[in-house]
Order: sequence, then structure tokens, then C-alpha cells
Amino acid sequence: MNPQHRRLPRHVAIVMDGNGRYAKARGMPRAFGHKAGVDALMRVVRVAADRGIEYLTVFAFSSENWNRPGDEVSSLMRLVLVAVQRHVPRLEREGVRVRVVGDRAGIADDVRRACESAEAQTAHNQRITLSVAFNYGGRWDVAQACRRIVASGVSAAQVDEALISRHLAMGFAPDPDLFIRTGGEVRISNFLLWQAAYSELYFSDRLWPEFGEADFDAALLEYARRERRFGALTTEAVAAAGA
Ligand code: IPE
Ligand code: IPE
Ligand code: MG
Repeated sequence: MNPQHRRLPRHVAIVMDGNGRYAKARGMPRAFGHKAGVDALMRVVRVAADRGIEYLTVFAFSSENWNRPGDEVSSLMRLVLVAVQRHVPRLEREGVRVRVVGDRAGIADDVRRACESAEAQTAHNQRITLSVAFNYGGRWDVAQACRRIVASGVSAAQVDEALISRHLAMGFAPDPDLFIRTGGEVRISNFLLWQAAYSELYFSDRLWPEFGEADFDAALLEYARRERRFGALTTEAVAAAGA
């Protein structure tokens, strides 16, 4: 086995997709699906913490989701305010550190304040870090990292991969080991583009509000079966090749 392979991912990233279809199937407005999506997230955070995952990063609102109808966008913004009020005290008690990653300049003051409050209330926690990608896009992230690097005045020769990684919004965490997308679509949709270079990808047909403990465990089991190589040969492959 490649020594870099740990059977349990340290960092799991999830594209929480399928809220709208979940609502539609029940004859409900899309906002109903988003609300159910928050409940699913609260269940999955608890499971991830129980399993010993150190970082859980979820895609909640993409840079491109502004292209949705205004009423859906405003219901998602309102949901942040409600979710912070309703769920952060419990997350705080359960040892969850909340971080919000994304372009804060582009969100309304009350939503930004709610994000800051969630971070401040949970900043001391160490059991698991829940990063909520909100107004986030992988391309935005690389661009903002470049802007900050240029502004810091380093020379071109000093720009390397490690420097870029440190300036990305998730610079505080290792790259995701396991990248899950629910809802049946098989694409990355501008999530952690740089950081997912060697992530194991896992696609589930389950709509996000229905994704639960058994689904999360199934993804972990599949991850444990994967053989990560990072471009190298494993010791088994080297032996089999007669090296
Ligand atoms: C994901 O669910 C949540 C957000 C993008 C905010 P969707 O709203 O994309 O649900 P579907 O894909 O339409 O079912
Ligand atoms: C990705 O889902 C973004 C989030 C889950 C927040 P989308 O539903 O926006 O992605 P596309 O449009 O199907 O690619
Ligand atoms: Mg979708």
C-alpha cells in the first residue's frame, strides 16, 4: 500500500446537490428542498465527526448560483441567517469549528455578519472543522490567491505551488482526500479545482436532503478500497512489475 494512503480520509468535500429535485418530487417550492438540505448537513456533520473526519467542506452556494431566479437566491440568503441561529449553538457544543470560505465582499451585510458570528462562536473548537463554501468558486479562489500574492510583493521566481496553496481560501486545511457529489450529476461545477487534483471522486445518485449516515459510510468504505498513487507506483505494483 502506498504509505500516503490512509484508510480514513482526513478531509471530505461534498457538493450538496439535488435540493431542488427533492422539493419538486414532493410538489414543494425549491426553498423547501434547501431547508431539508440544511437538516441533512447537520446529520452528516455529526456522522463525520463520529467517524473521526478532521475536515468536512461543503458547497452551499456557488459563484454561479447568482444566476438563479431572485426569489431562490433570497431564500438561500435568508436560510443562512436562520441556520446560523438555529444550528450554531449545537455545533458549538459538539466541538465543531465552523468556517465560511468564499467571496465575502459579494454578500449582503447581514449574511456576512451571520457567517462571522458562526465562526466566532466556534473558533475554539477542535473536533472537526466544517467549512461552508458560500459564494465560492474554484476559479474565483485561484484568482483571489493570485491577487493576494501579487499584492504581497513577492518576486515571480518565488511563486510556487505551495505558495499558491497557502493563499487559497482553504489554505488552512490539507487537500480533500475524498470528494463526494450527490444528486446524480457527474461534474465538479467549479468547486475545489486546485485542491481536488488528487482527490478520490465519489458520485451518489441520492438527492442531498436524503443523504444520510449509511450513504456517508458507503462513501468512506469505497474510499478505503481505492488505491491512491499520486502518479507513483505502489509497492505492490512495483513488485508485480518485477522491479
Ligand atoms: C444544491 O441543490 C443546492 C444549491 C445549489 C444551492 P440544487 O438547488 O442545485 O438542486 P437541484 O440540482 O436543482 O436538484
Ligand atoms: C453546485 O451545484 C453548487 C452547489 C451545490 C452549491 P449546481 O446545481 O449549482 O451545479 P450545476 O449547475 O448542476 O453544475
Ligand atoms: Mg443542482
